Amino acid sequence: MNDGGQRRYGPLGRILVIIPTYNEAENITPIVSRVRAAVPDADILVADDNSPDGTGKIADEIAAGDSRVQVLHRKGKEGLGAAYLAGFRWGTERGYGVLVEMDADGSHQPEELPRLLTALKGADLVLGSRWVPGGRVVNWPKSREMISRGGSTYSRLLLGLRTRDVTGGYRAFRAETLDGIGLDQVASQGYCFQVDLARRAVEAGYHVVEVPITFVDREIGDSKMSRDILVEALWRVTSWGVTSRTNRVLGRKAL
Ligand code: GDD
Ligand code: MN
Repeated sequence: MNDGGQRRYGPLGRILVIIPTYNEAENITPIVSRVRAAVPDADILVADDNSPDGTGKIADEIAAGDSRVQVLHRKGKEGLGAAYLAGFRWGTERGYGVLVEMDADGSHQPEELPRLLTALKGADLVLGSRWVPGGRVVNWPKSREMISRGGSTYSRLLLGLRTRDVTGGYRAFRAETLDGIGLDQVASQGYCFQVDLARRAVEAGYHVVEVPITFVDREIGDSKMSRDILVEALWRVTSWGVTSRTNRVLGRKAL
């Protein structure tokens, strides 16, 4: 809980890196090898939504040759948030102490993961952050950067969050933090899932630390960001903001 970082934290325990995939056939093999090289002790769970390009099958082949790699096959495309929730459940049920979120397309560099894990030794949740000093984005179209910065600023102001990067998707959670957040109540399907988990962690009083990262835009394949995902984010963030403000006025607890 948030006590200015004075709390003594227990050991991290076993680490599970969750990689959600939808049509990442060309990216999955290199990202898995990079994670294995950067953090040899970590296990990897690929959460594939039955990708039409055969990503799930490639992941199965990798898993057949490496006992530290597992594949969670899901029936169809249900969104990034839903894939992570399934991955978190899979991992917490199996006793992992740390659950990491990482994109498959190389935007989240596995070589930066040891820094996130070191920070987690003294925190409940670590956010890889593009918008703190030392963090940056490489090769991102200006339009996409504007959406991301705008989304972060809007969410921060409306929800009263002090973290700079609330939409980012490179994160390390302690299992206890996920348990305490109450994943059963999370309804976010798309990318607003990231804002949802950040605000829940902050509102629950967890110690959230930002670590600067360099986000590198993908070279292969396409972003799954869509108008529907943006619309879901806008209405959900707005309704959380309105609800928490109303509750504050009425003296009730938010969420
Ligand atoms: N299983 C599954 N199901 N995986 C998905 C789905 C889905 O419906 N949608 C996307 N993914 C996977 C992609 O295959 C990729 O590995 C990862 O989730 C991120 O998707 P991208 O499409 O590459 O996201 P992005 O680059 O536009 O957005 C990134 O930055 C955002 C912040 O600006 C992500 O990290 C977002 O989580 C983040 O909010
Ligand atoms: Mn991407």
